[in-house]
Amino acid sequence: MSVSGQSHWDKVYRTKPPDAVSWYRAHLERSLELIGRIAPDPSAAIIDVGGGESTLVDDLLAKGYRNITVLDISPTAIEFARKRIGEHARQVTWLTADVTQAGLPPRRYDVWHDRAVFHFLTAADQRAAYVRQVAESMKPGGHVIVATFGPEGPEKCSGLNVVRYDADSLHDEFGAHFRLMESATELHQTPFGTTQQFLYCLCKVE
Ligand SMILES: C[S@@+](CC[C@H](N)C(=O)[O-])C[C@H]1O[C@@H](n2cnc3c(N)ncnc32)[C@H](O)[C@@H]1O
Repeated sequence: MSVSGQSHWDKVYRTKPPDAVSWYRAHLERSLELIGRIAPDPSAAIIDVGGGESTLVDDLLAKGYRNITVLDISPTAIEFARKRIGEHARQVTWLTADVTQAGLPPRRYDVWHDRAVFHFLTAADQRAAYVRQVAESMKPGGHVIVATFGPEGPEKCSGLNVVRYDADSLHDEFGAHFRLMESATELHQTPFGTTQQFLYCLCKVE
């Protein structure tokens, strides 16, 4: 993705209010429930990949988590989230980068969270680069939460083509190094009154 990807996403965030994008939710309830269950210790190192302007970071800070990284390709989204959080933003590590190319620290994270980012990687080499990033930056025994559009989800998002997954096809992208622990579909209500099927997968790094 890189440069064209960055200009696409930055334009989205420069031109639309946070609650006027299809993926908006006031709170990422399912993500919070999963993180609370797999990583109850507030010192857990959590990275929210493609966090955009989502409130996951606010909710994790409110629950006492203090080792949070938010990465996004859009500087506008990162800046917006920082300002919204105010003084607590200093407790968060903010990375403006393409997840497939970012320099991430090795064996650093207990939890990798991605809602609606992986499904934009339509080229096999981008997906392979993403999976390498996960494999190298996660601690052994850590957990990976990836939410994509499900088999009945839309074929496009934000004007871009996406790849839709079921639990098996998503797990196949990651491979045997990751153990599929659970999966679930969710019908997301967009701010426009439509629904989108998401697939959530939780994997453990072996
Ligand atoms: C559909 S939005 C989802 C935002 C957020 N995860 C949520 O659930 O509200 C996709 C996000 O991924 C970011 N993104 C897209 N491609 C990316 C990439 N290659 N690396 C990092 N972030 C990316 C976009 O800027 C955007 O914030």
